[in-house]
Parts: sequence; C-alpha cells; structure tokens
Amino acid sequence: MLIRTLLAASVLTTLTAAEDGKTLYKTYCAACHAADGKGANNGAFPPLAKSLWIQGKPDRAIQVVLHGLTGEVEVLGKSYNLQMPPQGAMLNDTQIASILTYVRSSWGNQESAVTPAQVTSARKNSTKQKGMWTAKNLLELHPLPPTASPIRNLIRSTYVGKWKKLPDFSKLESVSVEEEHKGILNLHDIAAKDNFGVVWEGDLEVPADGTYKFILDSDDGSALYLDGKKIMALNSTGPLYSRTQAVEITLKKGTIPIRVEYFEASQKQDIFLVWSGPSIPGKQWLSVRPNTKRKSTPVIDISPKGEKSTIYNNFIHHTTPRAISIGHSNGTNYTFSTKTCAMSILWSGKFINAAQHWTSRGVGRTAPYGKNITPLGNTGFITKDTTQFRGYKLDPLRRPTFQYTIGETTVTDAIMPGESPHTLRRTITITGDQTLPFQAATSRQAKQTNSSTYTLGGKWQLNTGNTTAQLTKNALILKLTPGTHTLNYSLLP
Ligand code: HEC
Repeated sequence: MLIRTLLAASVLTTLTAAEDGKTLYKTYCAACHAADGKGANNGAFPPLAKSLWIQGKPDRAIQVVLHGLTGEVEVLGKSYNLQMPPQGAMLNDTQIASILTYVRSSWGNQESAVTPAQVTSARKNSTKQKGMWTAKNLLELHPLPPTASPIRNLIRSTYVGKWKKLPDFSKLESVSVEEEHKGILNLHDIAAKDNFGVVWEGDLEVPADGTYKFILDSDDGSALYLDGKKIMALNSTGPLYSRTQAVEITLKKGTIPIRVEYFEASQKQDIFLVWSGPSIPGKQWLSVRPNTKRKSTPVIDISPKGEKSTIYNNFIHHTTPRAISIGHSNGTNYTFSTKTCAMSILWSGKFINAAQHWTSRGVGRTAPYGKNITPLGNTGFITKDTTQFRGYKLDPLRRPTFQYTIGETTVTDAIMPGESPHTLRRTITITGDQTLPFQAATSRQAKQTNSSTYTLGGKWQLNTGNTTAQLTKNALILKLTPGTHTLNYSLLP
C-alpha cells in the first residue's frame, strides 16, 4: 500500500513538472502563438516553432515575455508589425522559466532548459526598461544567433590569371584547393591582391519547396550556378554595388550543387551572395559580408525576364501607398492603386530598381526604373467613395486581372501586354446595369489627335475604340456602359 502511494505520488510530481510549462503556455501564450507554436490565425501571429528568437541564449525570449514587444519584427523571413503585451507582472520567475523551457524544447526547437535564476537576473538587468521592447533595441542587447550555412562540403579553388571577363575555369589549373569549413564564400583571407580567380563548389541544402531569391554582387566579376545551370553572372569588371543582380528561382527541397565563379582584375576585391525564401529566417548571407561600405545606391533590376510578368508590391513614387506595380514582358509597366482602383503610372523599358527596399526596408519609395514615365493622376471610375478593391487573379503568366466593386456594380480590369512592344490592352468589364463615368486622364495630359485617339503626357497614345469619350475642361471622360470595353495604350514613336 505504502509502495503504491509513493509510486503514485512520484508519477504525479513528474507529470506536474512536465505538464507545467505546457499548461502555462496554453494559458498565457497559445491564444496568439497557437498550441502548435506556428502562430495563431493561420500565422497572422509570429511562430515560436523554429523561431531564431528562441534559439541560443534564453535572454532575448525572457525579455520579450517580461516587457512585451512592439513594432516591426522579422520571424522566419516574414515580417510582423504587431504588439505583444508584457507579462512580467503577471507571471513569476518560475512560471516564465517553465514556459520558456517548454517552448525551447517543443515543435522542433532543441534548446537548453531555462532556470528561474536566469529569469530573476534578466528581470534585475532590465528594471530600466519602461514600456515594450522594439526588436531593434532588444536585438542590440541580445542579437539573434547566426544561422548555420546551408552550404555543405564547400571547396574553394584559386586560379591566377589576368582577365576582364570570367575565364573558362575548366580549362585552367588551380594553384590551390581548400575547404571552406564554415560553408561561407570568403575572399578576405586570400593573400593575392589582383589578377586571380576563385571557384567555389559545394552542396546547397534547400530547406523547403518554393521560390528562393538570390542576390549576387562582386568586385570584379562573378557567376552563380545551381544544379549545373548558370543562374546569373556579372561578367565584367567593376566595383561592388554597381551591377547587383537578383534572381528568383523555384527550387525543390533537398540538396543541389552550387558553384560560384569569381575573378579579380585590379583594385578592390569582394563578393556577396545572399538568399531568402521559405524556411529561411530573413535574408541569409552565403558569403562573408563585404568590407566595402556601400557608397552609391545599388541597383537591383527586377524587370521581367522571359514571358512572365513581374509583380512588385511596394510603395512607389507618384501613387497612393497601396500600389501594385506590374512589369510586362513587352516592356510596358504600370502601377495600379488598390486604394483608388486606378492605373496611376505608365512607363516603358526597365521595370523597377528594387534595391532601395532591399537595403532599407520600407524607407523611402522606389521609383520606376524605365523611361517615358507618365503619372496619369487618378485614372479610374469617378465614384471613389464607393469603390472597393476586391483583389486580383493571376493568369499562368502572372498577369493580374483586378476586381473591384462600385456600389452594386462589379468591375474586372485586365491590363495586359499588347502584341507589339510598349503597348497595353486594357479590358474593362462592367457587370450590372449602370453606365459609369471613367476618367482616362486629366485634360492637361490628354490631347485629342483623332476621333478615338488621344496622346497622354506627350508620350503615350490612348485609343478608346468604340467607347464614348469626352474631353472636358478637367479630364478625358469615358462613358462605360455595362459590358466589355477595350482601351489600347501604346508608346508614341
Ligand atoms: C496577445 C497576444 C500574445 C500573447 C498572449 C503572447 N504573445 Fe508573444 N508575440 C505576440 C506578438 C504580436 C509578437 C510580435 C510583436 C511585434 O510584432 O512587434 C510576439 C512575439 C513573441 C516573440 C518573438 C518573436 C517570435 O515569434 O519568436 C516571442 C519569443 C514570444 N512572443 C513569446 C511569447 C511567449 C513565451 C508568450 C507566453 C508567455 C507569449 N509570447 C504570449 C503576441 C503574443
């Protein structure tokens, strides 16, 4: 009997200790971070599973629980801008320690236990912290741990030669072959100053199926190969940040060969390679960070390559803050405001230099990168108050058809590339029985040239087809009846 009671008691205590963190987690954290640690509301809240914020020393996570967190935060490559209320007053040190011990050992996290003493000292060390932490302030004190490189078996071969373009390394004899133990491209420990080349080869571990973005830059030339295919190259001499290239590529989970070629002619030498994508926390460096400070603004040209269109969702000059920019393969680009449901800028040639947002996220606005940039003002239906953006559908070539409603009326608006370069064919379909006035341009921009053609800003031509158009004192107004209307835009010769 005695034995049985003792046994029961001991089972009970182990159970309580193990359950404690989990139970407390469910009570105090799961509402937002979800019972499976993946973030509540389908990931509207940030995950704790595999979050870098949980890895390494526990101080960072302790501080978040004690004082809360506000403002922009990046977790596993996704950015959040929410608030986590402080819980330091509600939870004692033992409770916080058991919650974080549970979090740090669940859902794929494999970190050491947190002791109540660690929480006590973290509390003492942060008595000066009034209000919630911002990620910036907290990470200055407790930086995120470096992530292990996804490149295994990385070998660096060095060559000597004088080149202005990348040589065919396969025909050359290397002067040395070394292992890069950290799996990171590194030039900083090469003694040679000028006239050499390097080839790195290794195995890149792709953590999940999906689209990955690689950014490559170098002083002087370089090229990236994945799985034996050339992905991009800077095949000339020049300083860093003058020819930055970015490519998005769909990869399957698993290991693929990676090869990076590089040559240095004269003056400075550096390379940078960064990638981002599914299951990568933020942007991960695959090279040592360059020594050189950025002087000029870099250029990351994201013009469409091939048949598919490029969509860029970010702030852009001349438009309302919520704008989507589309670059079509025929060299015609436009921005569509989801606030006013209007095409707001039209331009030709290069699409967008994404570098500004890459380097200082959300700061400033990105300018269209091409030519014949024509702000169109609020081209759209003149019923702004009742206009409501409903989203867009993409066709297989990633070209969006926008949908919006104006009161009871539904409008679809497909602004597709025309057949020749620098043309757009815009098809507007109105469902319902209302005829709606549509502003195609301001009167300052529009000049009539024919019964159904107008120039826009002196650079583009608009053909209104069968649609009734009227150039008033203020604007070029089209009367769009229920049904389908086609407007053709083309760059003037
Ligand atoms: C009311 C919702 C809410 C509750 C409850 C909550 N959190 Fe959070 N937590 C958030 C939000 C929102 C953020 C991101 C804050 C931001 O965007 O600045 C966050 C961020 C975090 C982070 C850093 C980012 C990450 O995802 O790794 C950690 C660690 C964290 N919480 C742990 C906890 C723990 C442990 C608890 C329970 C003691 C808890 N949170 C309770 C909402 C909550």
